[in-house]
Amino acid sequence: MAFLTKLRKQCAVSLISTLAFFILVASVAQAGEITLLAPEQQCTLYARLPSTHFIVRVGDKNDLAQLQLDSGSEKIIPLATRLKNDTYYVHYRVPLAPGENKFTLSPGGRKITINYKPLRTLLNANFNVPGVYLYHRTETMHQECRQCHEVEKVPEDFYIKPVPYGTNSPVCYTCHKAIFEETKWQHSPAANLMCETCHQQVKDVGRISVTIGKDATLCYHCHLVKGKAWGDMAHIHQPVGFGVCSICHNPHGDTYRFQLWADGRAELCVSCHVDKEILLKKETEGIKVHGIIRGGGCVACHDPHASENPYMLYKPVNELCTGCHNDLIGVTKGHPVGGHPLKGPKNPLKPDKEFNCASCHNPHGSQYQYLLIGDVLGGHVCAKCHN
Ligand code: HEC
Ligand code: HEC
Ligand code: HEC
Ligand code: HEC
Ligand code: HEC
Ligand code: HEC
Ligand code: HEC
Ligand code: HEC
Ligand code: HEC
Ligand code: HEC
Repeated sequence: MAFLTKLRKQCAVSLISTLAFFILVASVAQAGEITLLAPEQQCTLYARLPSTHFIVRVGDKNDLAQLQLDSGSEKIIPLATRLKNDTYYVHYRVPLAPGENKFTLSPGGRKITINYKPLRTLLNANFNVPGVYLYHRTETMHQECRQCHEVEKVPEDFYIKPVPYGTNSPVCYTCHKAIFEETKWQHSPAANLMCETCHQQVKDVGRISVTIGKDATLCYHCHLVKGKAWGDMAHIHQPVGFGVCSICHNPHGDTYRFQLWADGRAELCVSCHVDKEILLKKETEGIKVHGIIRGGGCVACHDPHASENPYMLYKPVNELCTGCHNDLIGVTKGHPVGGHPLKGPKNPLKPDKEFNCASCHNPHGSQYQYLLIGDVLGGHVCAKCHN
C-alpha cells in the first residue's frame, strides 16, 4: 500500500515535470514568433526626449492576443498595431527614466534593459562605445519597416512652407512625429522637414547621423551676425565658445521662444548661474533687485552668445546704462556729486577695470539703496574708494 502511494506520488511528479517541459517548449516556440525589431534587448540610449519606440513583430493572432509589455510597475499600451503579409507590427512608445529601465515582453518573458542617458549636450555623449543603440547606425531604414514607412510625399495634414534652400525629407515624419509634440516654438528647418540638412553626412549617403561634439559648425551655416560667427567675437560666452548651441537651444523645437527649454530672459541663465537665482525669487532676503531683471531679464544687457564688449554686454557699460537712464546720457562727470568722474580713471577697487557706472552700482542687485555697493548714509559707499 505504502509502495503504491509512493509510486503514485512519483508518477504525479514526473507527470508534472513532463507537462512543465511541454509548456516550456510550447512557450519557447511561441516566443520565437514574437520578435523585438527595435531597439536592442540590452542597450544604452542617449536621447533628448525621455522615450523610445519598441517595435514588435508578431506571427499570428493568438500571440497578438496574449502580447504584453510591462515596465515592472505598469502595462504599456501599444500605440499602433498594423498588419502586413499576415504579420503584425506592434508599435509602443515607451517612456524612460534616467538610468536603468527594465521591461518584460510576454509571452516568453523576455527581459529588456535600457540604460537611458538624457542628452542635453552632445559633448557628454559617445555613440561609439559598444552597447550604445543607434537605430540608423548602419542604414536609413530597415527593410521590414520600408513596407509601410517609405513615404515620398509630405503628409497632407502637415503644412510646409516652400524654402529657398535644401530639400524636404518627408520620410522622417511618420516615425518622428514625437519631436513636434509639445513644442510650441519650432525651428524652421526642422518644421519644414529639412532633417537632412543637419543629419546627413555627405560622405555616407543613406545613413543618418548625429553630429558628435560641437554642433555650432552646423548652426553657423545659416546663423551669422553680420557675416561673423559668435565664436569669432572678442568676448564669448563659455558654452558658445565650446560650440554647444544645443545646450540651450533644441535644434528641433521646444516649449520656450527661440527653441529654449526654459525662459531665455532669465530662468535659463540662472539654471547655470545659480548664484544669481535669488534675483528671480519672491523673497530676495533683503537684496534689492535691479528693476529690469524681472522685465527684460538678463538679456536686456547681456548677449547670450558673444559681443565685442566685456561680459558680452551689448554696449560699453555707461552707454548701456544711460540707454535706459537717459538723464545721464553723454555725461562724463557730475554724478553723484559735482565734478565726480563717471569714466576715465581706473576703478580703485578693481584696478584691472575701467571706472564706470558698475563701479558704484551693482547691475544685478544690492542690499543697499540705489543698487549701490555700500550704504550712502554715513558716506560708507564713498569710503570704499576714498578715506
Ligand atoms: C538644425 C539642425 C537640425 C535639424 C534641421 C534637425 N535636427 Fe535632429 N538633431 C540635431 C542635433 C544637433 C541633434 C543632437 C541631439 C540634440 O541636441 O538634441 C539631433 C537629434 C535628433 C534626434 C535624436 C532624438 C533625441 O531625443 O535626442 C532625432 C530623432 C532627430 N534629431 C530627428 C530629426 C528629424 C526627424 C528632423 C526633421 C524633422 C531633424 N532631426 C532635424 C540637429 C537637427
Ligand atoms: C505594417 C505597417 C508598418 C510596419 C511594417 C512598420 N510600421 Fe511603424 N508605423 C506604422 C503606422 C501606420 C504608423 C502610424 C501610427 C499612428 O500614428 O497612428 C507607424 C508609426 C511608427 C512610429 C511613430 C510612433 C509615434 O510615436 O508616433 C515609429 C517610430 C515607427 N512606426 C517605427 C517603425 C519601425 C522601426 C518599423 C520597422 C522595424 C516599423 N515602424 C514598421 C506602420 C508600420
Ligand atoms: C521606420 C521608422 C523611421 C524612419 C523612417 C526614420 N527614423 Fe529615425 N529613428 C527611428 C527609431 C525607431 C529611432 C530610435 C529612437 C526612437 O525609438 O525614437 C530613430 C532614431 C533617430 C535618430 C537618433 C540617432 C539614432 O540613429 O538612433 C536620428 C538622428 C534620427 N532617427 C533621424 C531620422 C531622420 C533624419 C530621418 C529621415 C531621413 C529618420 N530618422 C527616419 C525610426 C525611424
Ligand atoms: C539650414 C539652415 C539652418 C541651420 C543649419 C540652422 N538654422 Fe536656425 N534657423 C534657420 C531659419 C531659416 C530660421 C528662421 C529664421 C527667422 O524666422 O528669422 C531659424 C531660426 C532659428 C532660431 C530662432 C530665431 C528667431 O528669431 O526666432 C534659433 C534660436 C535658431 N535658429 C538656432 C539654431 C541652432 C542652435 C542651430 C544649430 C543646431 C541652427 N539654428 C541651425 C535656419 C537654420
Ligand atoms: C547660454 C544659452 C545659449 C547658448 C549656448 C546659445 N544660445 Fe542662442 N539664444 C539664447 C537666448 C537666451 C536667446 C534669446 C535672446 C533674446 O531673448 O534676446 C538666443 C537667441 C538665438 C537666436 C535668435 C536671435 C539672434 O540673436 O539672432 C539664434 C539664431 C541663436 N540664438 C542661435 C544660437 C547658436 C547658433 C548658438 C551656438 C553658436 C547659440 N544660439 C547658443 C541662448 C543661447
Ligand atoms: C549651460 C550653462 C550656462 C547657461 C545656461 C548660461 N551660462 Fe553664462 N556662463 C556659463 C559658464 C560656464 C561661464 C564661464 C564661467 C563663469 O564665468 O561662471 C559663463 C559666463 C557668463 C558670464 C561672464 C562672462 C565673462 O566674460 O566673465 C556672463 C555675463 C554670463 N555667463 C551670462 C549669462 C546669461 C545672460 C545667460 C542666459 C541668457 C547665461 N549666462 C546662461 C554657463 C552658462
Ligand atoms: C542692467 C544690465 C544687466 C542685467 C539686467 C544683468 N547684468 Fe550681468 N552684468 C552686467 C554688467 C554691467 C556686468 C559687469 C559688472 C562689472 O563690470 O563688474 C555684469 C556681469 C555679470 C557676470 C560676471 C560677473 C558676476 O557678477 O558674476 C555674470 C555671470 C552676469 N552678469 C550674469 C547675469 C545674469 C545671470 C543676469 C540675469 C539674472 C544678469 N547678469 C543681468 C549687467 C547686467
Ligand atoms: C533695459 C533698461 C535698463 C538698463 C540697461 C539699465 N537699467 Fe537701471 N533700471 C531700469 C529699470 C526698469 C529700473 C527700475 C525703475 C524703478 O524701479 O523705478 C532701474 C533701476 C535702477 C536703479 C535704482 C533706481 C532707484 O531709484 O532705486 C539704479 C541705481 C539703476 N537702475 C542703475 C543702472 C545701472 C548702473 C545700469 C547699467 C549697469 C542700468 N541701471 C541699466 C532699467 C534699466
Ligand atoms: C562714484 C559712484 C557712482 C558712479 C560712478 C555712478 N553712480 Fe549713480 N549713484 C551714486 C550714488 C551715491 C547715488 C545716490 C545718489 C543720491 O543720493 O542722490 C546714485 C544714484 C543713481 C540713480 C538713482 C537716483 C537717480 O538719480 O535717479 C541712478 C539711476 C544712477 N545713479 C545711475 C547711474 C548711472 C547710469 C551711472 C553711470 C553713467 C552711475 N549712476 C554712476 C553713485 C554713483
Ligand atoms: C568705486 C570707487 C569710488 C566711489 C565708491 C566713490 N568715488 Fe569719488 N572718485 C573715484 C575716482 C576714481 C575719482 C577720480 C580720482 C582721480 O581722478 O584721481 C573720484 C573723485 C572724486 C572727487 C573729486 C572730483 C573732482 O572734482 O575732481 C570727489 C569729490 C569724490 N570722488 C567724492 C565721492 C563721494 C562723495 C562719493 C560717495 C558718494 C564717492 N566719491 C564715491 C572713485 C570713487
